[in-house]
Amino acid sequence: MPLKTKPTGRLISFEGSEGSGKSTQISLLAAHLQKIGRDVITTREPGGTEIGEQIRNIIVHNSKGEEMCAETELLLFTAARAQLVREVIVPALHAGKYVLSDRYLDSSTVYQGIARNLAADPVAQVNRFAVGNVMPDITVVIDVPTEVSLTRLKQRVTDLPDRMERENVDFYNKVREGYLLLAKSMPDRVILVDGTHTSAQVAQTIWEHVRVRLG
Ligand code: TYD
Repeated sequence: MPLKTKPTGRLISFEGSEGSGKSTQISLLAAHLQKIGRDVITTREPGGTEIGEQIRNIIVHNSKGEEMCAETELLLFTAARAQLVREVIVPALHAGKYVLSDRYLDSSTVYQGIARNLAADPVAQVNRFAVGNVMPDITVVIDVPTEVSLTRLKQRVTDLPDRMERENVDFYNKVREGYLLLAKSMPDRVILVDGTHTSAQVAQTIWEHVRVRLG
């Protein structure tokens, strides 16, 4: 279901490497928006719907996942997103809600396109097909140096590191560069935030940008 009329809600996506602090910042922005009376939902990718969670399991935790080729990975991530858009995001936007999305189509552009070296054109086409015209009003890219990202990742209290998190430093350098390039090439949509400051400082910067851009 594409957006037929302009919805009153807003879509704000959060992007960045693992350990960049996306989830903390999503919670802080959600709390801030709720305090000023906005209706907020948060979503995560891959996942966020029953079908999406099943796809997430295949991509992230499948023990045979090591053999998954980059093309399959792209199609699975975008399939989960296509479902999330139609089942959750579009209805929420039409209901006037603020949707804060933990990752969105830029993750596919950067992880599968740039870091896994898939050609940019097909990645863009598949991305567009999956989201239709549901583009973020604002995308917040939280930037941290790769070393910081990997150190934070190691401190996470999780079971075993998942498939994506086992990637090496080169991979995460490419991810970081990809996001920096994205921010540079789309300044109207993308806000680049330095994620090495305290959570409170990062939250304040994000809030100021969001306030200005959304009025
Ligand atoms: P997740 O546990 O959600 O990590 P994070 O907290 O960092 O978001 O795992 C999602 C992983 O999937 C992460 O390594 C990024 C990757 N990913 C892609 O490669 N392409 C995509 O389109 C999306 C949405 C995620």
